Amino acid sequence: MKYAIVMGSHRENSQSLKVGKYIENRIKTLQPDAETYLLNLQTANLPMWDEGLWKGDEKWKTIWSPIAAELQTCDAIIPITPEWSGMATPMLKNFFLLASTNELGHKPGMIVSVSSGRGGSYPVNELRTSSYKNNHICYIPEHLIIRFVTERLNEPEAVDESDTITRERIDYAIGVLELYAENFRNIRAKSEVWKSDTFKFGM
Ligand SMILES: Cc1cc2nc3c(=O)[nH]c(=O)nc-3n(C[C@H](O)[C@H](O)[C@H](O)COP(=O)(O)O)c2cc1C
Repeated sequence: MKYAIVMGSHRENSQSLKVGKYIENRIKTLQPDAETYLLNLQTANLPMWDEGLWKGDEKWKTIWSPIAAELQTCDAIIPITPEWSGMATPMLKNFFLLASTNELGHKPGMIVSVSSGRGGSYPVNELRTSSYKNNHICYIPEHLIIRFVTERLNEPEAVDESDTITRERIDYAIGVLELYAENFRNIRAKSEVWKSDTFKFGM
């Protein structure tokens, strides 16, 4: 099983990167055979989408092809975004413009939202509503909202009850995602049903 963790904050040393690395570490602990691909959009320097991507411009071949190749080998996607002004980050939304069915189609996605306070629900709503239509990522019912993130996941062991519950919830969600990832392989194998040039994009 291979998991893509797509870290969507633009900030250096972001809390979202801390969460992404924690989740990556838990996946490796809970599923020793699993592989991970951590795509840090803060350092990946992806340009904003332009039509050259679809025309096959050299610029995009250089920038996007290595990322696309990694994503194509993944069974599940974990997009992580901080809540910024009640939104998912522009960089993560740009990622969902760049990625197509080839990379994400019919793969389970588990959204992780991050807030330094009580926020974090808006990006979940936003991504569930508007980031899946053309790339056909399938968001599972389980998602994570890491609230008061600066107080969570800082030490090797949990420091209080809230930190403990956060860690237990992350492990639980990873387990659920694994189940979906296993079973969605069967769906992707039946491309004669879902692969269509006529109905390439969702409605
Ligand atoms: C531009 C900006 C807007 C923010 N807006 C919100 C918000 O609407 N809701 C919220 O809960 N936190 C908001 N925050 C605080 C973030 O939750 C907090 O900075 C968090 O650590 C950001 O995640 P990051 O460290 O991964 O970038 C905002 C932070 C920034 C930089």
